[in-house]
Amino acid sequence: MSTTDWTPYEGRIAGAATLEALDAIEQELFGRKQGAMTLALKALGNLSPDERRVRGAELNAQKQGLEEQLQGRRTELRAASRGSLADTDPLDVTLTLPRAPRGHLHLVPEFIRSVEGIFGRMGFDVADGTEIETEEYNFDLLNIPADHPARDAQDTFWVRDSGIGNRTEGERLVLRTHTSPVQIRYMHAHTPPLRMICPGRVYRKDADATHSPMFHQFEGLMVDRHISLGHMKGVMIEAMRALLGGDIEFRFRSSYFPFVEPGLEVDVRWRGGAETKEGRWLEVVGCGMVHPQVLKNGGLDPDEWRGFAFGFGVERLVMIKHGIRDLRMLYEGDMRFAEQF
Ligand code: PHE
Repeated sequence: MSTTDWTPYEGRIAGAATLEALDAIEQELFGRKQGAMTLALKALGNLSPDERRVRGAELNAQKQGLEEQLQGRRTELRAASRGSLADTDPLDVTLTLPRAPRGHLHLVPEFIRSVEGIFGRMGFDVADGTEIETEEYNFDLLNIPADHPARDAQDTFWVRDSGIGNRTEGERLVLRTHTSPVQIRYMHAHTPPLRMICPGRVYRKDADATHSPMFHQFEGLMVDRHISLGHMKGVMIEAMRALLGGDIEFRFRSSYFPFVEPGLEVDVRWRGGAETKEGRWLEVVGCGMVHPQVLKNGGLDPDEWRGFAFGFGVERLVMIKHGIRDLRMLYEGDMRFAEQF
């Protein structure tokens, strides 16, 4: 019987350029009906038992050799096609990229968010005011007399109304010097009991290491029937401990603001060890019981309602919290500064 020379197949397998070409050769060899190897194996049946044993062993070895060669070439072609895919396809799902750098909120809005969270848990609503105020709301309704130094051109930005909409052209307006006008606006818009805070930008004509012409304040207002200084102390202490952290002691000093009576200032100091932050008392907030005239200006009867109010400077607290000595660094946008936090 004729024996098949498999070397041409071996040459073609080694030279197959694509997986498809390789599949075609495999089909030619091992196809179920016409495959050359399939037919050769079938033909063994026509041989005598002795011949069949010899020829069968030979053929099986050749078959195995061809299968291994096919498998080897297939592995090579697969590896090559993966390599060329990585070269041409920009989407390589196997690639591990370095983590994209992740930033964080600026210290001021970050602090404002934490204040909203802390007061929110104590049931305070977050209110909004307006940055351009009338003299009436910024001063008069807050009991600030016409000759009060806060109205002085030296520390206040005045603007003139352009008269858009239903406003009066030429009216003297002011970039609000504090968030306290929101107390009045909130009392006008809501019925007590009230609990609100309002964070926002305020403006004063000041600029040095601890003052900037624009800064942020938080006003707080709580009005109910039986509010006392005790409630105010409780809220202040709770909030300051949560905001500043550490073991803080408090000092409540009497002070004067025309819109509260009595008025107080709160100082904080860190107790003990390395946390003392120089061990000085730091003034952090102005507060007091809402003046009866201010309740009246807000449309409330001072015989029925009482309240407390407070206002603190956000930048000042951020500086204390993070040990920042110059407020201007908060606004310079220097990444070497920002990345420290
Ligand atoms: N508005 C005051 C300020 O800017 C702070 C303050 C608010 C004081 C509320 C008492 C009550 O200094």
